[in-house]
Amino acid sequence: MQRVVLITGGTSGIGLALAEAFLSEGSAVAVCGRSQTALDRFALTHPDALAIRADVTRAEHRAAMLQAVADRFGRLDVLVNNAGTFVARDFTAGEDSEIQTLEEEVALNLTAPLLLTGETLRRWRGLDAIVFVTSGLAFVSPARAPSYGAVKAGLHGFAEGLRRQLAPHGTHVLELAPPTTATPMTAGQSGKMLTPAEVAAVTLKALRNRKRVALPGTAKWLPTLLRIAPNAVGNAVSRL
Ligand SMILES: NC(=O)c1ccc[n+]([C@@H]2O[C@H](COP(=O)([O-])OP(=O)(O)OC[C@H]3O[C@@H](n4cnc5c(N)ncnc54)[C@H](OP(=O)(O)O)[C@@H]3O)[C@@H](O)[C@H]2O)c1
Repeated sequence: MQRVVLITGGTSGIGLALAEAFLSEGSAVAVCGRSQTALDRFALTHPDALAIRADVTRAEHRAAMLQAVADRFGRLDVLVNNAGTFVARDFTAGEDSEIQTLEEEVALNLTAPLLLTGETLRRWRGLDAIVFVTSGLAFVSPARAPSYGAVKAGLHGFAEGLRRQLAPHGTHVLELAPPTTATPMTAGQSGKMLTPAEVAAVTLKALRNRKRVALPGTAKWLPTLLRIAPNAVGNAVSRL
């Protein structure tokens, strides 16, 4: 039977590469995003997929999105919580007005995936897999974006606990922790980066093998490096 996959933020970067990888292995795919232009572009190049306009931070949008998936495919097998953003913040120079953008960052990167996961599980208890896109920075928080490190570490913690909670039900929980990847989110950055397609390939392999964590590219060295040389890793991340 064809697997049905929903990817939040599937119109760009890593989410788009995941959508294309799932489509090429024969899955039915739904993606969401806020920009109608990006959704139209996605629908034009992927006519078999479902492109849903939804802001994952809004409860009514999440409900309508799950209903759209139910109406089109009748069920869901894999939820990919990918939509997210990177915000650099200097907490010594911030202003009070930043509270709102900080709340928006937490809402998108942490609260929304938790809420969407619960809403999805209550609708489809027999879900085969849930993917959380965290980051290598969930394990070592960057000097220029401590709040990003915090929310991604929070998502990592949620994935761990949920994996234990869902073990009796057979739902696979995969954490994807990419290193810096060439997407619109990293457009201003230089240096060696993975391609989104490389990240997607590692993710689908980890899903097939029911791995707990997918660590593409240089991220695969993180667990060892953090054990043997945590200060060196911290210093390297401070220079990011
Ligand atoms: N690129 C990297 O180096 C890197 C490394 C580690 C982890 N990650 C993580 O990977 C994920 C994807 O990042 P990316 O680099 O592929 O970013 P990207 O190219 O900027 O794509 C982000 C996607 O999320 C969607 N999105 C943003 N806010 C949304 C909202 N409120 N509701 C629904 N969709 C929303 C965007 O569409 P709209 O703007 O149209 O809504 C877009 O489709 C993020 O969670 C990021 O933290 C990225």
